Amino acid sequence: ENLFKIFFQHFFDFLKEKQDKRYMKGILDKMRDKCWLSKQVDRAFFNSFQIDSKDLISNTIIKEMPILFKEIEKVSQNAAILFQLIQDDSLGEEGFNIKRCESTIIQANTSKGLLYGMYRLYEEILLGNQFKEIISIPDQSIRMINHWDNMDGTIERGYAGESIFYANNQFRRDWTIVHEYARLLASIGINALSINNVNVHKVETRLITMDFIEDLKTMNAIFSSYGIKLFLSINFASPITIGRLETADPLDERVQNFWQKIVSNLYKEIPTFGGFVVKADSEGEPGPFAYGRGHDDGANMFAEILKPFGGICIWRCFVYNCKQDWRDRSIDRARAAYDHFMPLDGRFSDNVILQIKLGSLDFQVKEPVSPLFGGLRKTNQIIEFQLTQEYTGQQRAVYYQAPVWKEALDFDTKHDYSPSVVKGLLKSNSIDSKNSGICAVGVVGMDENWTHHKLMQSNIYAYGKLCWDNQLTSEEMANNWSKLSFILSDQGHKTVSEILITSRETYRLYNAPNGVGFMCKPHIHYGPDVDGYEYDRWGTYHFADRNGIGNNRSKTGTKYVEQYSSQRCEEYHNVKTCPDDLLLWFHYVKYDHKLQNGKTLIQDIYDNHFEGVERVQKYIAQWQTLENEIDEESYSNVSGLLDEQYDMAIEWRDQINTYFFRKSGISDKYNRNIYN
Ligand code: GCU
Repeated sequence: ENLFKIFFQHFFDFLKEKQDKRYMKGILDKMRDKCWLSKQVDRAFFNSFQIDSKDLISNTIIKEMPILFKEIEKVSQNAAILFQLIQDDSLGEEGFNIKRCESTIIQANTSKGLLYGMYRLYEEILLGNQFKEIISIPDQSIRMINHWDNMDGTIERGYAGESIFYANNQFRRDWTIVHEYARLLASIGINALSINNVNVHKVETRLITMDFIEDLKTMNAIFSSYGIKLFLSINFASPITIGRLETADPLDERVQNFWQKIVSNLYKEIPTFGGFVVKADSEGEPGPFAYGRGHDDGANMFAEILKPFGGICIWRCFVYNCKQDWRDRSIDRARAAYDHFMPLDGRFSDNVILQIKLGSLDFQVKEPVSPLFGGLRKTNQIIEFQLTQEYTGQQRAVYYQAPVWKEALDFDTKHDYSPSVVKGLLKSNSIDSKNSGICAVGVVGMDENWTHHKLMQSNIYAYGKLCWDNQLTSEEMANNWSKLSFILSDQGHKTVSEILITSRETYRLYNAPNGVGFMCKPHIHYGPDVDGYEYDRWGTYHFADRNGIGNNRSKTGTKYVEQYSSQRCEEYHNVKTCPDDLLLWFHYVKYDHKLQNGKTLIQDIYDNHFEGVERVQKYIAQWQTLENEIDEESYSNVSGLLDEQYDMAIEWRDQINTYFFRKSGISDKYNRNIYN
């Protein structure tokens, strides 16, 4: 019989009661020692389970099932969970069907599907949801996280402690943490992971050689057993730095032979290896331009070599001139990705994926969605988000990102074909739909709670859930995360959710105004410095003078608007229809310009910055109401960080308001305190 029986009685209550306060960290490991099932019983399960014993994921299910649903003490014929491998094309490779009648049945085509079904069932039970049937198939094929971890243990733009993968230019070999992390990712449906920084330094360049192969194999075995494909970021100049060639030209036969050897050696050791992530010709990283070649030449060379092994090449579009002369008003960094990659549409192999940042600059609190989405129609594509809060509070401010991602995925490009909305066209505009999806720069580090700010675990949770199911709302995900993480009264959960849901808007209000971006301290990207980047080489200017502020990216300016569909182009081009919160991204306007909300720009700037601080102050009061309900560790973690956020919000408010008061000479209508 194809049955897997466990006993159900009382466990509902038990799980609710024992619910781990740190959902993300080690919920299972805490229980592991006390696991009531012996190895022998495990094997018995396995036999009735009838999945290939060599299948890593089946083994994961067998190991974790009894731990997840442990403490089920009494036999009950009517309360069993049955895992069934079936053949149902509609479920695809990862989908599952959970049916609850007298018993609970999880069905899928693959063990990976069963694994996702198991976590989903567990979650539904913890949430106390009643249901008869859940059929679930992921909306996006690739659901990835990019780590920017360096082997010396640092993480580029990481603010939650050291790397969980590396220390002292070696693998850290804390396999327990890696294991916990893999489980965490699988429980929310993540299926791909690149494990080193896109800026590939000296030691990391050797990750593709045999120097670290044993550790890589261990990593791969752990992640594979949770259905996660492993990728490496590579250094385009490796043929020179480790191959002792004088060139890295992708059309040079010696270079191709170098990569051929590297790739075949890697796949010999790790046949399930995912492939490469490449940052080329970007911010000082080497690339094909040095040899007069295009990005298609570079990416296609890797693709051809990886293809026989089933590997893919993920090629980043974050390509722009980072040595711009601020005096030269003809250059617009925002145009760069489209200008470089749009002409190459249709020229990439079917195992190349272009990875495109959500906006055309760099993860600011508010940016328009990149025009490459909707523009590219014959190229595999992935949208790139950033879990780590580089420009948005660095794990010291609450910044729940689901609303940012929803905004991007739900964005209607208004091209005259269907689907024209980003979440749909990622797949439909890709030449191979399985090579499309979403990725995000990672956030976790060695900090005890993974994310430094307890509440920011919600971003990992929401990211995975949303990649899987694009219809979920920000509110639903925030509520569920709160319920999975804390045991609170209904009002308590409401408070947590409310803080999360409003946090992006709060941050936007006290940050750089109306989509202009980049008023942060150079390099560290934390705290305000209005002119910090104004006369620098990075192409991120606000052009404020005594009359007004903003970038003219309209048809009379850099013509960036013309990269959009004609409908969007007209909307953004016209100051009357351009959304208020993006106005300064697209236009230079005077301080007394009337916004769509009826206020003048300058008054809007003042109002927003005062309101931003007031909102953080309110969070502090709201959080205090939870003091007796929430566990102490979480309580003090968040209250300390809210205090810090409050101080920082005041700094933003005062510097921005004073700056614009001095430039414009226009007073606040309400006579609030603006320093002069
Ligand atoms: C940002 C970030 C860099 C990073 C780069 C990238 O500019 O500040 O640290 O390397 O993005 O996405 O490659």
